[in-house]
Amino acid sequence: MSHPNRRDFLKRSSTAAVGAAALGALQRGAFAAGDDTIRIGLIGSGGRGSQACVQALSTEGKVQLVAIGDAFEDQLKAALNGIRNAFADRPERVAVDEDHKFVGLDAYRKVIDSDVDLVILATPPGFRPTHFEYAVEKGRHVFMEKPVAVDAPGVRQALAAAEQAKQKNLKVGVGLQRRHQNCYLEIVPRVHDGEVGEITAMRVFWNSGGVWEPNQGPYHLSREECGSEIEYQMRNWYYYNWLCGDHICEQHIHNLDVGCWLKNAYPVSARGVGGREVRTDPKYGEIFDHHCVEYFFEDGSFMLSECTHMRGCWSDVSEHAVGTKGTVDLNNNSNPRNNKIVTFQGSGFSYRGDNPNPYQIEHDKLFAAIREGKSYNEAEYGAKSTMVSVLGRMCTYSGKQISWEEALNNGRRVTPEDIPNLTFDSTPPTVPNEQGEYPVPVPGVTAVT
Ligand SMILES: NC(=O)c1ccc[n+]([C@@H]2O[C@H](COP(=O)([O-])OP(=O)(O)OC[C@H]3O[C@@H](n4cnc5c(N)ncnc54)[C@H](O)[C@@H]3O)[C@@H](O)[C@H]2O)c1
Repeated sequence: MSHPNRRDFLKRSSTAAVGAAALGALQRGAFAAGDDTIRIGLIGSGGRGSQACVQALSTEGKVQLVAIGDAFEDQLKAALNGIRNAFADRPERVAVDEDHKFVGLDAYRKVIDSDVDLVILATPPGFRPTHFEYAVEKGRHVFMEKPVAVDAPGVRQALAAAEQAKQKNLKVGVGLQRRHQNCYLEIVPRVHDGEVGEITAMRVFWNSGGVWEPNQGPYHLSREECGSEIEYQMRNWYYYNWLCGDHICEQHIHNLDVGCWLKNAYPVSARGVGGREVRTDPKYGEIFDHHCVEYFFEDGSFMLSECTHMRGCWSDVSEHAVGTKGTVDLNNNSNPRNNKIVTFQGSGFSYRGDNPNPYQIEHDKLFAAIREGKSYNEAEYGAKSTMVSVLGRMCTYSGKQISWEEALNNGRRVTPEDIPNLTFDSTPPTVPNEQGEYPVPVPGVTAVT
């Protein structure tokens, strides 16, 4: 016997004139399964997607993983094994049958078209706007990882989908987990309440030794082991702008987001410098290993941003602000030395509380909002903070000072024009020469993209 589900009900209700109250009650109590089970589809079952899925399945109430999609079968299998192991004591939470395992570049559509309530979008970010837009079109709640795009057209697409999601009362979480982390949640509102006065300057850093090495199996295969250039770039996605957005976008977005959150504003322009100093081998694709950007705000204040992928150098991941009455220091651990407000009069506040896993909390809040029918939409600030990082990259690649408006309205796509029809035989936006070298941006020469 098939259970009536919410979507069937909504279809029928358009002619039956169901009152808003009844509809609200239904939205709170019944999901695709016809009861209070929230059915999840995972798209992009790599490291973060698998973890996000475990966190989604660990929220309160009935929740099930029912569909999974990945570009590559090996990734899908490994993820499903891992998720099953994590729920060995609650196997009913992982209910993916053979017909709901989808492999390939169109896997996202098949997952979204399945009978799911929420999708987790955790592919490399170049695909995100297309996947997000389709999920919203099909009426799915979304948890999507940051960044939500890699270029201005993608940001605009994500902003439009965010608005659509609001109108459809869909809930959207974005993986900027500092927004759900206790030390930030204690300190940022104090700043907004004026404890350090008006912010005049900020510094934000993600200076580190970098991420995983390319061309190292079993997932990051070498070119010889891949069937096409697209497959090669996708398996080594971090090093290609159209997939990753460069590390200022993929990683440093966290700190840029915190800076804009502290300031409660987005920059009006930026300028910066960057390049490839230590990571010059062609296997590192086309991205830079350092970016330094100065962002300017309407009131004359500024934010200095640095992100490096350089081993053996000063490293730090943190955010700092100077106000007219004091200073703020933030860092994603709860050490009171790292999370504090100090006023110029000598008083202050140090965060001494606990630091529960913000990756879990972001899912707890999203799923509670779905169950309670409350508004929940992080997509707009997720898209705007993505734009801040894209603006920074536009400045470091081109060497120009660029306004927010000019950047946001930029028409150049970094990604392929037609992502929904991309195949493994398509030509990617960047290709190597005979020596295997990719064109690397040259400040002063490269166009604003
Ligand atoms: N919030 C955080 O702290 C945090 C931490 C790590 C990663 N992330 C973000 O999560 C996302 C994924 O990162 P990751 O580290 O898990 O990468 P990953 O390489 O481990 O996983 C990506 C997965 O997506 C799959 N994939 C690629 N293109 C696809 C497509 N078109 N359709 C379906 N599947 C596709 C890959 O095969 C892979 O399994 C990125 O946006 C990254 O920035 C966020």
